[in-house]
Amino acid sequence: MSSKPIGVFDSGVGGLTVSKEIMELLPHEAIVYLGDTARVPYGSKSPETITRYAFEGLKFLLSMNVKLVVIACNTVSATCLKELQNNSNVPVIGVIEPGARAAVRTTTSKKVGVIGTERTVKSKVYESAIKEIDSEIMILSKACPLFVPLIEEGWLDKEATYLTIAEYLMPLKKEGIDTLVLGCTHYPLLKPSIARVLGEEIKLVDCAKETARIVRETLESMGLLNQGDLPYEEKHKYYVTDNPEKFKEIGERFLNKKIEHIEKVRL
Ligand code: DGL
Repeated sequence: MSSKPIGVFDSGVGGLTVSKEIMELLPHEAIVYLGDTARVPYGSKSPETITRYAFEGLKFLLSMNVKLVVIACNTVSATCLKELQNNSNVPVIGVIEPGARAAVRTTTSKKVGVIGTERTVKSKVYESAIKEIDSEIMILSKACPLFVPLIEEGWLDKEATYLTIAEYLMPLKKEGIDTLVLGCTHYPLLKPSIARVLGEEIKLVDCAKETARIVRETLESMGLLNQGDLPYEEKHKYYVTDNPEKFKEIGERFLNKKIEHIEKVRL
């Protein structure tokens, strides 16, 4: 059982930020990644549609015989994590809870900003998760739909990107937040640019890093950490629902390493 892979699901390429953290923290683990590139973005879709897509993704990963599933997509985690957990025979981990816990640990002013897709922000799940731990924390949320295309275009250090960051985030800074939760798969790539605009005094919470820690804790507590060391080429497999070439091009930038074993599948 412990030598089985970890399944990672995302609406597209962004979940690779979570895979990258898992690879760094747990180098002995193999990952089966599924990106629903044919139907991305999920962030502007209805909860019903997102839930239907997510169940198809989960079914695919379970059919790949994974020992644990990570829902790397904030939008899916915000929409239907409980339902997915209730319909899986292996643990299903989302990204909201880890991010919320880290935000509570980080803030001292008790004013936390949360950014994500339209759907994630509308769901208010970060608010509930943070307030459940500390009801005194005030949360200011903002949907930042332009960040995803800018990041996928590789525009991390362009004037247009700095202006967009300032337009979205300066109002949150003026409200006095001291912590900002990066509630979307893609946003960790913008960390240096956001830090440059907001200043180092605002701490950025990277849900991908936090989630990787929870994955390790969960596998450890279940005795499922992989003890063996598989050769790298045999370890990670990538499945997409469309355009593997584009996924490879953007994905290698996200991962900072080569993507092998990529295959197009129908869900
Ligand atoms: N993966 C999505 C998220 O983390 C961003 C891209 C999308 O809208 O599908 O919310």
